[in-house]
Amino acid sequence: MTLDVARIRASYPALADGYAYLDGAAGTQVPGSVIEAISNAYVGGLGNVGGAFPASERSGRIVVSCRQAIADLVGGEPSGVILGPNMTTLTYRLAETLSRSWGNDSEVVVSRLDHDANVRPWVQAAARVGATVRWGEVDPATGELGSAQYEELISERTKLVAVTAASNLIGTRPDVAAICKKAHQLGALCYVDGVHATPHGPVDVVALGADFYATSAYKWSGPHIGAVVASPELLEGLHPDKLRPSSDGVPERFERGTLPFADLAGTAAAVDHLASLEPAATGSRRERLVTSMSAVEAHEMALFEMLLSGLVAMGHVTTYGKAPLRAPTTCFNLAGRRPVEVARHLAERGVNVWNGDNYAYELAGVLEIRDSGGAVRAGVVHYNNEADVSRLLEAVAELAAPGVA
Ligand SMILES: Cc1ncc(COP(=O)(O)O)c(C=O)c1O
Repeated sequence: MTLDVARIRASYPALADGYAYLDGAAGTQVPGSVIEAISNAYVGGLGNVGGAFPASERSGRIVVSCRQAIADLVGGEPSGVILGPNMTTLTYRLAETLSRSWGNDSEVVVSRLDHDANVRPWVQAAARVGATVRWGEVDPATGELGSAQYEELISERTKLVAVTAASNLIGTRPDVAAICKKAHQLGALCYVDGVHATPHGPVDVVALGADFYATSAYKWSGPHIGAVVASPELLEGLHPDKLRPSSDGVPERFERGTLPFADLAGTAAAVDHLASLEPAATGSRRERLVTSMSAVEAHEMALFEMLLSGLVAMGHVTTYGKAPLRAPTTCFNLAGRRPVEVARHLAERGVNVWNGDNYAYELAGVLEIRDSGGAVRAGVVHYNNEADVSRLLEAVAELAAPGVA
């Protein structure tokens, strides 16, 4: 099935500014339906949850529907959906909680492919209890995180394996299912960073084997909300620090303070938006999501091929990573140009991209770009089109050094 990208683009007010938004990996725009859902929540009147009046009940219903929406998006259970401000905050919270059962004979495995938000919280929690950190290494030539190395990395001492479902810098999708399987054989838990993977195709947390799956709604057309999805049974056994009077139920005990109800309404609307991307999709919302996100994946991969082949064909461009399985995100540098300079030039040509290490701190070290300003990152999401990619390629071509094609 082919996405009707013109129709989809028309639903995003921000795209009317004429820029090519190739910065989706850092955050997407939101469609009108999400803006309306947030606005309607406020217009309708909200109260804090648990009160005896209708506005409070409305907030309660928003929370329930948001959990259900995220569960549908990733194939989880609504009562295992922890909501919070962003993935980083929730990951620190879970690291703090999980590490209470670690000792100085424990081990955790992190990877150099990951965004630092799925590295540092575990490394710091391990340091507090004297646990050992082991590292999954990336092949600098291909950008791959081989799953075979996890045979050696995971042992009976391993408590937790943290790994990304897709790199936010070079797109690499490691074999998470194989890594989780190995972890489970030896009794370890797997914390999967799905922040970059979720917008780019169907997600099934059960098939991945993720004990915890983290995602951020602002990467998939929603507001600035994070979520971690786990099985309610697993969460029952964990006890984070919490206020005495706040709910000790699951998942509420992991949620600190008052939730941003209007943004949660927007988050549920974003999931509905994703489910509607392929209008011919039928069945439950979960089924429509799987169909729509498969169409998204096909559309994005065709655009990504255009982006990547265009960049690789230019003699003055160095791209990083060539894993066979990738999300549609790449990073590159231009001969003799600092990444920030390239990003500024692209901005002048109406193209939004990021420059720097994009918080993929360890990976930027492996690629030897961390101390030289990182790289330029560009990626596509479902609302990008060929015109966006062509504009980037033309602007990059303008920066060829004299004599370099
Ligand atoms: C792969 C990945 N993981 C984690 C994060 C952190 O997410 P948040 O901003 O929700 O804390 C990001 C943000 O860019 C990301 O791309």
